[in-house]
Amino acid sequence: MTDDSPRATDDAPRLIERPVAAAPRPSADGDGAGPDAGTSRDTVFSSRDVNVYYGTFRAVRDVTFDVHTHEIMALIGPSGCGKSTVLRCYNRMNDLIKEARVTGTITYRGTNLYNERVDPVEVRRRIGMVFQKPNPFPKSIYDNVAYGPRVAGQKRGLDDVVENSLRKAALWEEVSDRLSDSALGLSGGQQQRLCIARAIAVGPDVLLMDEPCSALDPIATARIEDLMQEIKQDYTIMIVTHNMQQAARVSDTTAFFTAEVHSENDSRTGILVEVDSTQKIFSNPSDERTENYVTGRFG
Ligand SMILES: Nc1ncnc2c1ncn2[C@@H]1O[C@H](COP(=O)(O)OP(=O)(O)OP(=O)(O)O)[C@@H](O)[C@H]1O
Ligand SMILES: [Mg+2]
Repeated sequence: MTDDSPRATDDAPRLIERPVAAAPRPSADGDGAGPDAGTSRDTVFSSRDVNVYYGTFRAVRDVTFDVHTHEIMALIGPSGCGKSTVLRCYNRMNDLIKEARVTGTITYRGTNLYNERVDPVEVRRRIGMVFQKPNPFPKSIYDNVAYGPRVAGQKRGLDDVVENSLRKAALWEEVSDRLSDSALGLSGGQQQRLCIARAIAVGPDVLLMDEPCSALDPIATARIEDLMQEIKQDYTIMIVTHNMQQAARVSDTTAFFTAEVHSENDSRTGILVEVDSTQKIFSNPSDERTENYVTGRFG
């Protein structure tokens, strides 16, 4: 770890693997990349036939798509179709849910994210997450942002990391004179930007955002949307949103999910209906189900 302020790079190195005694070297495709997995420099994620189960319940099935660098991808679809479940696959947050199981292949810059030698903690450093409800730690504004770098062992240069991260999250001007105040005293919109600063502080490559604006007013929402546009030069972003205007405004590509209903037991499985440029999804989608959803006739 150096004292450098955080930065994401296009050529982010491969994930650090956990040392395993006498582990066999992976073969050319032994990373699980598979024949179709995108490994081009600008492919950040490749998902192939991803299924997620909670116990025996299959929540989503056969999800296949790619995410490219510096892209903002929106995940949209009706409640319960599996958007959060899918998003959590990309930084192995589903590992923390006891009954969750992921099958299929997800590569991150060519490395199988679920390879047993990939360290999930390192995955979550590279691939940060911002949740629906801002969740600052009950600590000072400064300590929230410095938390990740400190955990990683950084001792020097923290002031710069904190300032740079808060600037990137468009919060610096509002908090620079009260860094030692409790983060819990900030407004909801400020707390959400603090959480973005905290995610940025560890120098991630990707940000996953699960309905980050759903608890915010239109002004705070606009600030977060502007922020996303600014930081997409440095990061790749996947955002789940129920707000169609937001998806249309901020994203480059959109993935539409829906839930297939199984009449025999009334259970539902999330499926990916289509993924395309946001402009196409909102003006001329290929699938009627997408059109019904984006025009408000369903969901
Ligand atoms: N921890 C869990 N344990 C069991 N089932 C779960 C769990 N989390 C989600 N599910 C189920 O998986 C399915 C997909 O849920 P998910 O939260 O991913 O949907 P979503 O599209 O994000 O919905 P929303 O728009 O309401 O946030 C739902 O049927 C849900 O009940
Ligand atoms: Mg959700």
